[in-house]
Amino acid sequence: MIRVLFVCLGNICRSPMAEAVMRDLIEKKGLSSKIKVDSAAMSSWHIGEPPHKGTQSKLKEYGISTSGMKGRQLVKEDFESFDYIIGMDSNNVRNIREKLGQPEHPKIFRFLDLTSHKKDVPDPYYTGDFQETYDLVLDGCKALLEKIEESL
Ligand code: 4NP
Repeated sequence: MIRVLFVCLGNICRSPMAEAVMRDLIEKKGLSSKIKVDSAAMSSWHIGEPPHKGTQSKLKEYGISTSGMKGRQLVKEDFESFDYIIGMDSNNVRNIREKLGQPEHPKIFRFLDLTSHKKDVPDPYYTGDFQETYDLVLDGCKALLEKIEESL
């Protein structure tokens, strides 16, 4: 079992979007028994909350459900529990490394560094542009799934 954790600041916009899109791609490829996906926040601000309305409605447009998803905060034990711990932007990556006490570990990296975009995922909490975020998240998830499939 390969375990993937997406991390952003609030765990209501970007990382739950990546979690839901990645799970959808995995289901469509029949790989659900091999790859598990989760997401978490750096902050404690939205613990227990469902994804942001903008994330919910954008995903709904693409037939992807967010039912049952709830925000949670990154914990130290996540370092052992996951094979990939992926920050949605470079601040997230820096904060993950600090919190987990892992300045160099290759399992912690920035999401879009897997793609030709090589940039932060813009935060739609501030930009309001959930489409831009969705398009980048889809690219990143496809790249991540290709990388994982090579290791299966
Ligand atoms: P996210 O976006 O990190 O993509 O979930 C944010 C969500 C909430 C806040 C900031 C960013 N906030 O300030 O509450």
